Amino acid sequence: MTQINEVTTLTREGDIAVVTLNSPPVNALSANVREGLFEGFKAAIADDAAKAIVLICDGRTFIAGADITEFGQAPKGPGLHEVQAMIEDAPKPVVAAVHGTALGGGLEVALVCHYRVVVPSARMGLPEVNLGLLPGAGGTQRLPRVTGVEKALEMMTSGRHASAKEAHESGLADAIVEEGKLLEGAIAFAQKIVADNAPLTKIRERDDKVAGARGKPEIFEAFRKSIARKTRGFLAPEYNIQCIEAAVNLPFDEGMKVEAKLFRELVTGEQSAAQRHVFFAERQVAKIPDVPKDTPQIDVKSVGIIGAGTMGGGIAMNFVNAGIPVTIVEQAQERLDAGLAVVRKNYENSAKRGRFPMEEVDKRMAMFTGTTNLEDLADKDLIIEAIFENMDVKKDVFGKLDKIVKQGSILATNTSALDIDEIATATTRPEAVIGLHFFSPANVMKLLEIVRADKTSNEVIATSMSLAKKIGKVGVLVGVCPGFVGNRLLAQRQREANKLILEGAMPWDVDRVLFDFGLPMGPFAMSDLAGLDLGWNKETSKGETLRDLLCERDRRGQKTGAGFYDYDENRVPSPSKEVEGIIRQYAEERQIQQREISDEEILERCLLPMVNEGYKILEEGKAIRASDIDIVWIMGYGWPRYRGGPMWYGENSVGLEKVLERMQHYEEKHGADFKPAAMLEDLVAESKKKAG
Ligand code: 3HC
Repeated sequence: MTQINEVTTLTREGDIAVVTLNSPPVNALSANVREGLFEGFKAAIADDAAKAIVLICDGRTFIAGADITEFGQAPKGPGLHEVQAMIEDAPKPVVAAVHGTALGGGLEVALVCHYRVVVPSARMGLPEVNLGLLPGAGGTQRLPRVTGVEKALEMMTSGRHASAKEAHESGLADAIVEEGKLLEGAIAFAQKIVADNAPLTKIRERDDKVAGARGKPEIFEAFRKSIARKTRGFLAPEYNIQCIEAAVNLPFDEGMKVEAKLFRELVTGEQSAAQRHVFFAERQVAKIPDVPKDTPQIDVKSVGIIGAGTMGGGIAMNFVNAGIPVTIVEQAQERLDAGLAVVRKNYENSAKRGRFPMEEVDKRMAMFTGTTNLEDLADKDLIIEAIFENMDVKKDVFGKLDKIVKQGSILATNTSALDIDEIATATTRPEAVIGLHFFSPANVMKLLEIVRADKTSNEVIATSMSLAKKIGKVGVLVGVCPGFVGNRLLAQRQREANKLILEGAMPWDVDRVLFDFGLPMGPFAMSDLAGLDLGWNKETSKGETLRDLLCERDRRGQKTGAGFYDYDENRVPSPSKEVEGIIRQYAEERQIQQREISDEEILERCLLPMVNEGYKILEEGKAIRASDIDIVWIMGYGWPRYRGGPMWYGENSVGLEKVLERMQHYEEKHGADFKPAAMLEDLVAESKKKAG
């Protein structure tokens, strides 16, 4: 065995040379790995006794891509293109042996090998688009030459990983070998190639799969249209498409030039920087400094849910979908039946949409037990209370649970607003009490705020974080405060949006600015969707707020065909003259002067107080790190990933100095709502000091 460098070895098995990479955790193409590959292949090529070369990785995966941490740094060692040329031009067959995932630059290395063998559990993909990038090492030119244009378009704009079976069928993999026997399988494959005198196939020379699409821009236009809604605002999908068009219409080397140019643009741009930040933020969020990884966890085999309303039912579905049976409690049998009927309907709808076969509906429903007896929760490992927001009622429930439920279980509340420390005082075991704040619809939304109360134990926190993952959510640990993290930021935006429409901007102006920024919907369109009469009552309405006035006119949102907007029979909104009149009169009566308001002011006043509030949250220790706040807003509120999250946006797109300056500017005009967070002031002062 020759040790090529820290991460690479070269061995020979009979007449097959084996280059092995071992660079944990994912064999990313760092400078070290590139050097190892370059030198390893050079030596293997020089070894006359070696008739073919196998490239394989140790550890959990084949190369999972370029080393993302190296982007933006000065290049070191051999470039990836140099390494690839060495492999592709090798005078003897090279076989890539793939387990785990061959992703991005990893797949691009595999694609310059003359053959690829995979184990059944392996996956292959070009996920660069998720980092705001395109494959920059020939992947855009080689993938379509192997799979054809349609699959390449779909894979590269979605970043989806293909299974070994799919890879084999589409020609990405030449053979599937037995799980656990990759090295033997790859060597046997290489020996056969040598024995058969098989050609050194270079994908770059192929044309058969792309020729059919040549000179047919309509293929690309149709594809663009099909993904337009999903990819609104993102640059990378379009750039990926342009590269595939180049692969189809230009000679290989010319296509490579297009790829290089567009890659450079993306990798130095703001969107990719933001999306790379999100990649790491998503991984950071699972790390809790004072709850070590090896903290013992509670084995949650059964769940009890109190409340069969929309929230309770939706929460329950998550656990059942993950194979954990749920007992659901309601006070009255009719409400229980109604709740379970809604759950069944949801499952039936999913089955109709083809998510799973109809028989699955009954199977899942069989995992629900309905009861009107709280005592039936006695032996459940996790109880989640999802009843209406009233402190006395919740305390009463927790007091009862404390007496009924076995020791060692988790007692969780789904409150979105109440003080969980106070709820915990109703029990004799506050260490077992935690907040699990699901977002509506709870079976769909990815975010789970896990709310740590003063006395919540590490065991309960660690278990909750793992459970979030198990049920397909992103768990973010936050502290007890009004609105926790997500709604606390939202309240800032809502307050300013409400003020702006009294000062002269119309609801559709505010919505348009936020939509164009990349959010899925503005606050007024959102209110119309949710219903303006949530919590409003005709009898008690005093006609004092704008909402009262709209609801009294039966403008209660989409469901009544009118809210802030007018809706046609297809629920397509248009600005409402009536609402404009109501708002103007309302402002006049309160002597609020209406004026022209710029889009810039709308954006600043809606978003900068959110950033500022984020710093207050960090100051108070209610979130562990700024990037956790970003994840909350990306996963729970549709903040566009290409803008990195509100905290990233404040720090990197606007700049903290400007955030502070604008907050001070608005504080002067509009008062304390804009008072800058002390932490924001400190950070700006610090960076000014550093800059001298
Ligand atoms: N570069 C640097 N670090 C990486 C990395 C990469 N490409 N991929 C993963 N890591 C790190 C993670 O940050 C994490 O670090 P941590 O333990 O310190 O938090 C660690 O490796 C393990 O990653 P995961 O927690 O994600 O492990 P999983 O087993 O859940 O997933 C994976 C493994 C599927 C490989 C997943 O990590 C992944 O999707 N990685 C990114 C793949 C990717 O996007 N590749 C394309 C890169 S861009 C590129 O190649 C450009 C080229 O075209 C020129």
